[in-house]
Amino acid sequence: MKFYFTLAALAALTLVACQNSTPTYPARQPPPGLLEAPDAIAAGARLFVSRCASCHGKTSEGRSPRADFFQPPAPDFSDPVYQHKDPAYLFWRIEVGKNAEPFRSQGSVMPAWRGLSDREIWQLVAYLKKRSV
Ligand code: HEC
Repeated sequence: MKFYFTLAALAALTLVACQNSTPTYPARQPPPGLLEAPDAIAAGARLFVSRCASCHGKTSEGRSPRADFFQPPAPDFSDPVYQHKDPAYLFWRIEVGKNAEPFRSQGSVMPAWRGLSDREIWQLVAYLKKRSV
C-alpha cells in the first residue's frame, strides 16, 4: 500500500515538474534595434488593440467579458515580468498559439497568428515587453 502511494506521489510530482518546465522553442533574433524602436512599439500597440485586447486587454481597450473565464487565463502583459521574457519565446507563442504542448492539453484558447508577417510579430513582441513600462 505504502509502495503504491509513493509511486502515485512520484507520478504526480513528475507531472507537475513537466508542466512547469518551459517548452523548447526555436532560437530567433529580432531585426537589429527593432525591440527598442518607438515606431515598432507603436505599431505593436496598434496590432495589440485590434487583435489581442479582446482577450489580453483592459475593458477600455475592448476586453471581452468572456476573457475572465478562460482556463488557463490569458496573461496580463502589464505585469513587469514580461520586460524580461525571451523575445524568441514570445515570438513563438504568438506564432503557434495553442498548437503546442503543454498549452494544447491545458485547453488554451490562444490563437496561432500565422497570418501576421514576421515583422508584425516582432512589433507585437516589442510592445509586450514595454506594456508595463
Ligand atoms: C481568444 C483569446 C486570445 C486572443 C485573441 C489572443 N490570446 Fe494570447 N493567450 C490567450 C490565452 C488564454 C493564453 C494563455 C494560455 C496559453 O499560454 O496558451 C494566451 C497566451 C499568450 C502568450 C503566452 C504568454 C506566456 O507568458 O507564456 C502570448 C505571448 C500571447 N498570448 C500573445 C498574444 C498576442 C500578441 C495576441 C494578439 C496578436 C494574442 N495573444 C491574442 C488568449 C488569447
